[in-house]
Amino acid sequence: MEFEDRITAANINLDEEEMELSLRPKRLSEYIGQKSVTENLKIFIEAAQMRKEPLDHVLFYGPPGLGKTTLAGIIANELGVDLRITSGPAIERAGDLAAILTNLKDGDVLFIDEIHRLNRSVEEVLYSAMEDYALDIIIGKGPSARSIRLDLSKFTLIGATTRAGSLSAPLRDRFGVICKFEMYQNDELAEIIKRSGEILNVSIESDCLLELARCSRGTPRVANRLLKRVRDFSQVKGNGVIDCEITKKTLHSLGIDALGLEGLDRDILRLIIERFKGGPVGIDTIAAAIGEERITIEDVYEPYLIQAGLLHRTQKGRMVSEEAYKHLGIAQEIEG
Ligand SMILES: Nc1ncnc2c1ncn2[C@@H]1O[C@H](COP(=O)(O)OP(=O)(O)O)[C@@H](O)[C@H]1O
Ligand SMILES: [Mg+2]
Repeated sequence: MEFEDRITAANINLDEEEMELSLRPKRLSEYIGQKSVTENLKIFIEAAQMRKEPLDHVLFYGPPGLGKTTLAGIIANELGVDLRITSGPAIERAGDLAAILTNLKDGDVLFIDEIHRLNRSVEEVLYSAMEDYALDIIIGKGPSARSIRLDLSKFTLIGATTRAGSLSAPLRDRFGVICKFEMYQNDELAEIIKRSGEILNVSIESDCLLELARCSRGTPRVANRLLKRVRDFSQVKGNGVIDCEITKKTLHSLGIDALGLEGLDRDILRLIIERFKGGPVGIDTIAAAIGEERITIEDVYEPYLIQAGLLHRTQKGRMVSEEAYKHLGIAQEIEG
């Protein structure tokens, strides 16, 4: 199965965008969890407003589906400014970025998703834009070429990335605020599912909330997607109310187990146990054996397996934990 087809893939697919829009919190007060990030931002927003200055540039990093784009929108709302959204791969040439930057007004927020994928020449334009609110443009070629400086409005850049390590040091250093997004606790996910249920107008029995939360891999996007699927099941096979029976049936038909793992997650764990005695084994070996790209395993599968305590990253490679054996129902061989 392609990971895009997985119900628990944290990546967004196109037909979901509309639903995400309606479920996306608009204000800081509606944004659940991620407290260490939001509490600091609240202060920085207030301080910037008191000084009548733009908010410092902000970098968000963490796995997909944890609410980075959502929070960027909320910041713009709270500041009462316009938000311009783009992404690293979408800005192909320096001129594209210059066009975006010259159209911003004072205080506006520019959100660049997947900022680690900006190409070099575009990134260099960003340096002076972030630091001095200026663009250095080179006019002409060869010996007659000269550089002119163009002033920009005082904007705020919010960058988001799943891989902070891929960001170049000069770019990272130009962000005044760097926020790490953590996976959500089950009670926070339950609250998110409850809120989404209210917006989608479906009734969910309260004991199913935690069960759905536990299967959501710490990720709001996955939680909302699961909710949508149980809603389908409850409409077709039940009476429209989401109860425990419908929830169990849905999860079972989707091949999602009690920890929210799907086939490929279990394949990874089983591979390490059965072929490599539980590890340590290198990530490239795992990738080759599973037939997935290393980067996909690192970004999509591994974060949750590690968070759930099933997998450990060690100097010598990946190792499964005792819990992984228990979860898969495989007896652990004790070497004597
Ligand atoms: N803190 C939150 N509270 C409520 N819903 C959230 C929260 N974070 C994310 N979501 C939901 O999850 C979806 C995915 O969030 P998004 O901001 O697109 O994630 P990211 O940009 O990190 O991939 C959003 O549409 C929103 O409905
Ligand atoms: Mg996003």
